[in-house]
Amino acid sequence: MFELSEKINFGNLTFRFTRLASTMDFARRLAELNFPEGTAVLADEQTAGRGTKGRSWHSAHGKGLYVSFLLRPSLASLNLLPLTIGLASAEAIFNLSGIDIRLKWPNDLVFEGKKLGGILCEAGTSGQKSAYTIAGIGINLNHSPEDFPPELSSLATSLFIITGKTFEKESLFELLSKSLQFWYNNLKEGQASSITDQYQRKLSFTPGQRLILRSQEGEIEGQFQGIDQNGGLRLKLGQEIKTFHASEIIRVLS
Ligand code: BTN
Repeated sequence: MFELSEKINFGNLTFRFTRLASTMDFARRLAELNFPEGTAVLADEQTAGRGTKGRSWHSAHGKGLYVSFLLRPSLASLNLLPLTIGLASAEAIFNLSGIDIRLKWPNDLVFEGKKLGGILCEAGTSGQKSAYTIAGIGINLNHSPEDFPPELSSLATSLFIITGKTFEKESLFELLSKSLQFWYNNLKEGQASSITDQYQRKLSFTPGQRLILRSQEGEIEGQFQGIDQNGGLRLKLGQEIKTFHASEIIRVLS
């Protein structure tokens, strides 16, 4: 029987590597070969892990979860994708460790102001012009402070640093796949408001707080008004409210 909306299975098809340059690149090759949505690429170590804004992602052997998922979201839902993945990551981390992390719009997973993980979404089109997005997730699991490069040691944290316990990356991967299954299918079914409501509850700052944002227009300071239905950040600048996408919060003021 013809089904209107097909549920996506996460991690049913998983490629595991000891070492890769970046799971993003291998997942991109799978997308171009028309592999199904939800296909995952995991590596124990990345030699050229990528972060957002052209930064690198430190990916020491066996210390973190480094995974990319192949997705084909609609164009209209692209801005909500990092938020959806952030929610699923927070849920999976809670189910693994009992730690209730916060989300720093739009890509960061944080705990007590330090970065625990991040999300990188890269879009592309394959030969047949079918659009895809590779969603990369990096979560610091078993790092000690000295496992981070010196420039990151005061900014980054791990579940080990927070709890004193070590965690299996395969357990987190399994939980993350389950949470993504739920939240990504919600996104595909058009449940934008359940995603943005839940996301807003897990944010690392609250409406009314002042933020400094680095946007295409440069650095901007304004008062946070909320996340809109499209995943945009609403900021009050003087008398005007503006919505931002693809920006970065560089400081949360009072
Ligand atoms: C960020 O800058 O916060 C995003 C970090 C994303 C890192 C992950 S690790 C798995 C995947 N492969 C990469 O090269 N990057 C992403």
